[in-house]
Amino acid sequence: MTTIDRVLGAGIERIDGPAKVRGSAPYAFEQDPGEPITHLALVQSTINRGRITRLDPSAAEATPGVLAVLTPANAPRLSGELTADLPVLQSLDVHYQGQVVAAVVAETSEIARAAVGGVRVEYAAEEPDVTLRADRPDLYAPAQVMAGFATDSVIGDVDGALSTAAVTVDATYETPAQHNNPIEMHTSMARWDGDSLTLWDANQGPHTIQRDLMTAFGLTAGQVRVISPYVGGGFGSKAFAHPHQILAAMAARVVGRTVVLELTRQQMFSLVGHRTPTIQRVRLGADSEGRLTAISHEVVEHTARIAEFAEQTATATRVMYAAPHRRTTHRLARLDVPPPTIMRAPGETPGMFALESAMDELAHTLGIDPVELRIRNEPPRDPERDVPWSSRSLVECLRTGAERFGWAGRDLRPGVRTDGRWLVGTGVAAATYPSRRRKADCRISVDGRGRYLVEIDGSDIGTGTWTALTQIAADALHVGLGEVELRIGDSRLPFAGGAGGSTGLASWGSAVVLTARQLRARLESLGGQPPPDGLTVDGGVPGPSPHAEQYSMHSFGAHFVEVRVDADTGEVRVPRATSVYAAGTIANATTARSQFLGGFCMGLSMALHEESLQDEHFGHFVNHDLAGYHIATNADVGEIDISWLDEEDPWVNELGLKGIGEIGIVGAAAAVANGYWHATGRRIRDLPLTPDKFFR
Ligand code: MOS
Repeated sequence: MTTIDRVLGAGIERIDGPAKVRGSAPYAFEQDPGEPITHLALVQSTINRGRITRLDPSAAEATPGVLAVLTPANAPRLSGELTADLPVLQSLDVHYQGQVVAAVVAETSEIARAAVGGVRVEYAAEEPDVTLRADRPDLYAPAQVMAGFATDSVIGDVDGALSTAAVTVDATYETPAQHNNPIEMHTSMARWDGDSLTLWDANQGPHTIQRDLMTAFGLTAGQVRVISPYVGGGFGSKAFAHPHQILAAMAARVVGRTVVLELTRQQMFSLVGHRTPTIQRVRLGADSEGRLTAISHEVVEHTARIAEFAEQTATATRVMYAAPHRRTTHRLARLDVPPPTIMRAPGETPGMFALESAMDELAHTLGIDPVELRIRNEPPRDPERDVPWSSRSLVECLRTGAERFGWAGRDLRPGVRTDGRWLVGTGVAAATYPSRRRKADCRISVDGRGRYLVEIDGSDIGTGTWTALTQIAADALHVGLGEVELRIGDSRLPFAGGAGGSTGLASWGSAVVLTARQLRARLESLGGQPPPDGLTVDGGVPGPSPHAEQYSMHSFGAHFVEVRVDADTGEVRVPRATSVYAAGTIANATTARSQFLGGFCMGLSMALHEESLQDEHFGHFVNHDLAGYHIATNADVGEIDISWLDEEDPWVNELGLKGIGEIGIVGAAAAVANGYWHATGRRIRDLPLTPDKFFR
């Protein structure tokens, strides 16, 4: 599968690279709607909870260049089926700080933003409730958690097994709220032609956004077109519609002109979701040889009062290790916060920080190498569903990573190595992510000269879809890359789900392969030659793999890091890391490496920096820009050795491809925190590992 003479798997450079470099791959704001653009600016609530008592837009309306000021009093009525934060300007109630309470449309963005100051808003504020604690009396169990997982899973007698275990760990881990910060701000440009809406938009799946706009305005699919060929990053916050898309469309309808709304970086800290903070109690019981007898992982997290978002934080714990007695639970607090959303591996990312930290603590308690501890607890079958793995290569990832990193001979004792004033340690953690496939339609046409056109509403959010999907198509059609033209990122194209849940290439690729097979069969029946006026075939995949019930399908990985902590300042450095993955077929070696590397770096960023701080009294996220919300930069990233195993999985999908957008982040923060402990002897159980925590 990895030989270079095949198109599939080869490290082909991004085919959209030249356009990106030349500035001719337009983001939403750079699209040409065919007429002069007007601009939208937002008035946002300054309270977390309460009601608007007075709203006077007259000074803003009188500003030259202002076309309209939308308020709850005059905004068009939207469908009552909209939920969460999507019914914008439909009520005087305020549910979170930063909620849109009015919007100004003007000839220029400068005029619109200046006129925002001319909208007077007064509120009757109530005390907001914004603090997550594990002992809140109002925690509740949601009906299920995200991605359809059960809220609780209990097998055996966990408390009994813990009370009789030879060795136990009982520790509570905390992860903070975090915010998605793709480089391209969330942007929507809306134009109406009669009753038809066109939206040039930065998102992870045009069909997903189209559906909410159809609902909001009571339109058919044929009346809403969402166009998003190039997107500047999206880690989950661009997966679903947020208020700005509805607002842009609403404003364009009111003024009868094209309207663009580009959120500011600061607005992205209240209007496009965040990763919920978590408090996670993990208890492990083991025999004296390190075989787990009990695993308990109890999660407390928050959601918004106006929307239930139940992150599946403990679900990775259901597949990682063997143990006869097992319990995973999720409880939510409803707070006066904006609705949380997904952020790269929602669930697995915070959950595996806790589980993989606890495994490290158990290894220390037992005096066993943490790699060996994991290998001893490798489950031969899915330990909760009791079905075989479609493929599982965690042990090989651990062994290969240990070899590449130079793990052998590591001193188990923490806090005993120094290099000048640096305390030096190494850490390991495992990674996992589910492999899923979703429904996707596809159309492939061949013209009389043997040129192929592949149409599917896939998304490239910087992941490499343009290139990898072209490779998959060429491979399946048995033609060269140059004979395939791909079209993605437009809701007029055949239906496909968005770039999310690491399902993109697995789903779109499967649809392309099956459609290509149909087309080749038709061509063969015609003697191998396309008819002069060409041929078109519609195909696709209906949904999950037909083997998804019989097998447990996941990718796995292992991270090894070296951590250095400055004994005088508490500064943390990660000079080198090794990550090894097993994710089935790799479609493009170059863009895959980028995905794995990017995921790991985001985990490093989570370990060292990322934390959205809430003001306990006013409730808002205080550090709402890139000056206050720190993200790892090049200077934080040392030498990172990325590799993957050849893994064949005949069950996951037509390509044997497991999806790689998220696994890189999973477990990375635990590896760093484990290395920090090994360097310093101090166990930090609440991320991030900021210098102050070294001194507390
Ligand atoms: Mo990803 S958090 O599933 O967009």
